[in-house]
Amino acid sequence: ITKQLTPQDLAGLMVLVTAGPTREPLDPVRYLTNRSSGKMGYALARAAAQRGARVVLVSGPTGLTPPPEVQLVPVETAQEMYEQVLQYGSGAAVVIKAAAVADYRPLQLSDQKIKKKDTQLTVQLTQNPDILAELGRRKAQGQILVGFAAETCNLQKNALDKLHRKNLDLLVANDVTLPGAGFDGDTNQVRIFGSQGQEESLPLMNKHKVAHGILDRVSRLYHSRVG
Ligand code: CTP
Ligand code: CA
Repeated sequence: ITKQLTPQDLAGLMVLVTAGPTREPLDPVRYLTNRSSGKMGYALARAAAQRGARVVLVSGPTGLTPPPEVQLVPVETAQEMYEQVLQYGSGAAVVIKAAAVADYRPLQLSDQKIKKKDTQLTVQLTQNPDILAELGRRKAQGQILVGFAAETCNLQKNALDKLHRKNLDLLVANDVTLPGAGFDGDTNQVRIFGSQGQEESLPLMNKHKVAHGILDRVSRLYHSRVG
């Protein structure tokens, strides 16, 4: 029934969605990660499939059940996500990067459990590759790149910086300090920025509706280009 009521405006398009956190191992029993439930990314994958897209979902560990008719590509580290996203990204009409990628990983991965010793422990971190920035550099003619940004302050400035720096078409920003827009919840409230300076605010809604709201903009952009 849902399918009959949902516009098939992404039919035939390949949509790549990333979701969830990445995990950066420190030793065999510990890792660094980001706060991300994966719910927004999974909602986007489900909504895109409902609208007729062929969806590949590259996901960090979330414990969520993948939506029906979506190809799940599970990953753990940012480096693994980078490899899978670049592989699938070249053929995608639309790439939506909802994943919370760890910016840094431990410089050294200890092959033994690190034992408790001194009162302080210093861990050196090294920067992970920026997956979205790399997609922006490789962007094919007509491809639509959508980034996410969870911010706690200066939302508009940070959002526009990321949009331009990473060569994106749309950036979805959410102020994680707003009630109902934080981590883990089933709702979200976002502002969507376009590369021509357009800005739209969506109301606080469940993540499934937010996903369709984002895809409405993606679809509009895609169809305005192909005519
Ligand atoms: N992103 C990515 N690869 C990274 C870091 C981020 O692909 N190594 C993507 C995220 O999936 C998101 C967008 O870039 O779509 C913005 O992520 P964000 O963490 O807000 O931006 P950063 O450029 O990492 O800047 P900062 O964390 O300093 O705000
Ligand atoms: Ca970051």
